[in-house]
Formats: sequence, structure tokens, C-alpha cells
Amino acid sequence: MNGFINITEDIFYVGVNDRETAIFENLWPLDKGVSYNSYIIRDKKNVLVDTVKINKFSVFIEKIRNLLNGEDIDYLVINHMEPDHSGSIQEILEEFPNMKIIGNKKTFEFLNDLYGIQKNLYEVKDGDEIDLGEHKLKFYMTPMVHWPETMMTYETKSKILFTGDAFGGFGSLDGGIFDDEVNLDFFEDEIRRYYSNIVGKYSPMVQRALKKLSDVDIKIIAATHGPVWRKHPERIIEKYDRWSKYESEEGVVIIYGSMYGNTEKMADHLARKIAEQGIKNIKVINASKTHLSHIINEIWRFKGVMLGSCTYNTGLFPPMEEIVQWISHTGLKNRVLGIFGTYGWSGGGVSTIEKYAENFKWPIVNESVEAKLSAKEDDLKKLDELAKAMADAVKNN
Ligand SMILES: Cc1cc2nc3c(=O)[nH]c(=O)nc-3n(C[C@H](O)[C@H](O)[C@H](O)COP(=O)(O)O)c2cc1C
Ligand SMILES: [Fe+2]
Ligand SMILES: [Fe+2]
Repeated sequence: MNGFINITEDIFYVGVNDRETAIFENLWPLDKGVSYNSYIIRDKKNVLVDTVKINKFSVFIEKIRNLLNGEDIDYLVINHMEPDHSGSIQEILEEFPNMKIIGNKKTFEFLNDLYGIQKNLYEVKDGDEIDLGEHKLKFYMTPMVHWPETMMTYETKSKILFTGDAFGGFGSLDGGIFDDEVNLDFFEDEIRRYYSNIVGKYSPMVQRALKKLSDVDIKIIAATHGPVWRKHPERIIEKYDRWSKYESEEGVVIIYGSMYGNTEKMADHLARKIAEQGIKNIKVINASKTHLSHIINEIWRFKGVMLGSCTYNTGLFPPMEEIVQWISHTGLKNRVLGIFGTYGWSGGGVSTIEKYAENFKWPIVNESVEAKLSAKEDDLKKLDELAKAMADAVKNN
């Protein structure tokens, strides 16, 4: 098995799967693995586009050797310097010492800061082009998608856009690598998770990049993670456009923190009442058990968010604290909020969520419901009102 895969007759996939790293960036769960995608264009000048995380270097270099059969790599394009893509640059440079490294000013600053590489540099600016023979490369600077140096590279013969992290997602490529070969429901969910966890904070910069690319004729999207979009590249562009405009689907995510189940009961009550209003997408999530990564993904997807917490040492239950901090930090807009919770004596759970919520700047659909130790008849009535208000707020979104 030679390992590389044709994208066109002279452009190849030489990426790798990582099924051994448990958490990406030492933070985000990789239960379904991840791919680090890399590509080779063969022409008078051979080009490698991005590299892979160093733990997979041996698999990577074997594919490259099999493909090139002794030929040289003339250029390495670095679209993004995060180590999941830049990690093998030093080793590649040792194998191909004549190779020129294509990047922008910021790329080279990071290349020196991370790896001490200062030689073989070929600097490009926004709109610059390089002729390879039959193919031509054109460079688009797309800063902060996802780091300051990030750029995209457009290949003019087959109209392939190499996009770096943009349009990429978690999940290893198990056999199929193209959008028409894989289960897209799975990958779209994992791409939204990657987007919301990693790129979402920079949504305004994603919008800027999408505008810059709007008149580029894109036939294939080749990102650094997840499938290569050759059949319907417009499909993932449209999703990215929606996510970065903070658009949402009709539905409600109810996230709760509960030690002994009383706050959880309130969450279940809300969910039932919202369902009775005809809302079908309702997710009830235990913050103690579900990783922040998946919670953020659901919040990025749905219009309605309900946060519930018991009181813990006069404040918020710790797993809920992480969530409200994240929402404050990420700048996500256009969601509607409902708050509920429990306390025993001093209170502090619900009021802390309310304090954080001032930063979210999301409309609150109805007043918070806070029960003493457990929800009684009165509290349940208030929950009914909260549920109704939430259902109304997310309908016809
Ligand atoms: C470890 C612990 C610390 C608590 N700290 C407070 C507190 O500081 N103030 C308060 O009003 N209630 C406090 N409570 C009471 C809980 O908020 C209350 O029992 C609530 O109903 C628990 O909800 P749950 O059944 O969803 O876990 C505490 C409870 C526990 C077990
Ligand atoms: Fe990145
Ligand atoms: Fe990445």
C-alpha cells in the first residue's frame, strides 16, 4: 500500500490519521480521532502543502517517498503554523534541504520562534502568485482563521483551495476522504465542534475571509482536517457562513449542574414543557459528565440555551462555572437564555449565572426560577412559564 490518494491526476492527498492522541490541544476530546491533512502538487516544481503533527511523521514521510519516487520537493507552503500542521517542518527540511518554505512575514516570525528555522524562506503577500509549470498558486491572507499568520492557497488549474483549519473538523478519515465518500452527518457535527471550540471566537475574521474569497471559483476545498470537499464545496462554505454569523437552528439546549438531582428534575420538567410546545430539538446535558467541547458545539447549534445550577459553597456549581466563563469569552451572539437552579440557605447559584449573563448580552426569555432545595408546586408553575417563553423565543427562528 502506497498510502497517497489522487485528488486530481497530479494533486495528491498525503495526510495522516491520528487515533492515539486522546485530547487535541491537550484540551478537546478526540473520541473519533482526527486527521492532519497534507497535499502534494506535482509539476515542474513539486509542492507540499502543510505538514502533520510530529507523532505521525513516519507514516507521512513514507507516503511522500512513495509518491515522489526520488524526486525533490521544491516548495513547502505553510498555511498555518500551529504544531498540528507545522510539527514536521524540520524533519521535512532535513529530507529535502533544497526546498523553499513559502509563508508570509508572520509565518516566518513563528517559524523562527518555534523551530529556529531562518533559511530557505520565500515570502509571499496577499494576492501573490507562483508559477509551478502547469499549475499556479495564489495566496490569500486570512489572519486569525485561526492564528495571525493563517493564509489560504489557491491552485488555479484544478481550482482547489487549500484552506488550513477553515472548513476542517475532528474525526479521522476512515477509508473515505472525499465528501461524497463519507457520512456527512457525522463530519458536519465534528466540523461544527472544531469550529465552535477552536475557531468560533474569531467568527468576525472568518466572515472577513469569506468575503475576500467570494469571487474565487472554488471547485475543491482541501482543509487541514476532515474530508476534502469535491462534490459540494458550497455546502460547507454555507455552513461556515452561518456559524460565523452566529445563526442557529430551532432547538433548546438545557445544561444543568446538580449534585443530588433536584436541579436535574427542574431541567427535565423544562424539557417536557418545551416539547409540549412543539419543539423537537431539545438536549438536556449534565455538565458534570459531558465535556465542555460537546456542550459548546450544542450551544453553537441551537437558538435556545437554558442554564441551571445548584448552589455550591455560596456560588456556582464548578462544572457550570467553566461553561458560563466560556460563553462570556467566546462572544457568541443571537442566542436566547433561560436560568434556573436551587439553593439551601444563602443562595448564589442562580445569581452567579445572572451576573455572567450580563456579559453574554443575550435576551433573557423570562425571569429566573430558583427553588429552595427542591422545586415545589409554585416553582413548577414558574418553570412552565419559563418553558413557554423559551419555546416561543426559538420558534420560527
Ligand atoms: C457541598 C454542598 C455545598 C453547598 N453550598 C451551599 C451554599 O453555600 N449555599 C446554599 O444556599 N446552598 C448550598 N448547598 C445546598 C444545595 O444548593 C441544595 O441542596 C440544592 O438543592 C442541591 O441541588 P441538587 O439536588 O440539584 O444537587 C450546598 C450543598 C452541598 C451538597
Ligand atoms: Fe489551528
Ligand atoms: Fe489544525
